Amino acid sequence: MTFRARHLLGIEQLHPLEITTLLDLADTYADHNTRGLAHREVLAGLTQINMFFENSTRTQASFELAGKRLGADVMNMGMQASSIKKGETLIDTALTLNAMRPDLLVVRHPQSGAVDLLAQKVNCAVLNAGDGRHEHPTQALLDALTIRRAKGRLHRLNIAICGDIAHSRVARSNIMLLGKMENRIRLIGPPTLMPAGITDFGVEVYDDMVKGLQDVDVVMMLRLQKERMDGGFIPSEREYFHRYGLDAAKLAHAKPDAIVMHPGPMNRGVEIDGTIADDINRSVIQKQVEMGVAVRMAAMDLLARNLRAARQDNSVMV
Ligand code: NCD
Repeated sequence: MTFRARHLLGIEQLHPLEITTLLDLADTYADHNTRGLAHREVLAGLTQINMFFENSTRTQASFELAGKRLGADVMNMGMQASSIKKGETLIDTALTLNAMRPDLLVVRHPQSGAVDLLAQKVNCAVLNAGDGRHEHPTQALLDALTIRRAKGRLHRLNIAICGDIAHSRVARSNIMLLGKMENRIRLIGPPTLMPAGITDFGVEVYDDMVKGLQDVDVVMMLRLQKERMDGGFIPSEREYFHRYGLDAAKLAHAKPDAIVMHPGPMNRGVEIDGTIADDINRSVIQKQVEMGVAVRMAAMDLLARNLRAARQDNSVMV
């Protein structure tokens, strides 16, 4: 098998072949989901715990649905921000959870690196559902599957990632994944929302939408992450929409068949014009949500196979 990982902590650790293996399996699950085929045997007898230390609607629902479609026993734990102020608290929480013997732990946390730390303390497979500004691997994988299905390939595409790059774990994971698959990546946004040293990632940087969108195949918009800003990054939302918001006039510079993406939740009229978001000929935003369930099914299936294999090896050794 070409998927060896024990946890899904980030795109950074994945080999291109592992990405392709996961996407191929997710592709099958996506087809089966539309045909209403169930696969409740895949995670039967396994316990999945979703721990979200940060608010989430679609990602948590998507992981829950994915687990249930594969027959796992799924438990959601709503974690209050107040309980994680100290490092010890997170580790204590991890140890407590570990004692309950879950098989799959899905974690979202506001601090970058927190999920990696947690993974070192538990015996189960850990899936990162977004940690601070660091990584959001299943989002990048679902974006990749959406692109691959729309464009028929996942290499040699011109892809623009636009807006609040600096605060975005979605951008980081996507830059790594799309780079590993040999695409040309352009980042477009105001210099205040561009992380320092970003050109080291082999991307082109623009601060002008019209120039940056020229002939791209994919336009990926990002939410303005107001909760991660302490003021001063943009003059006003109106001004931001005028310069960086995606509307029909700016989109006209991309290829005529370019697709429009957004991870959600959207700020209509801030980073994207509502008409573009709803245009079924251009926007694949609902497809992204659909692919999300399939990608999470594939990720948990593959990790569960590795977990079962590791447990079997251990019992042989004992
Ligand atoms: C993203 C996230 O939480 O990082 N959303 C998501 O997973 N659906 C992007 C965002 O919040 O803007």
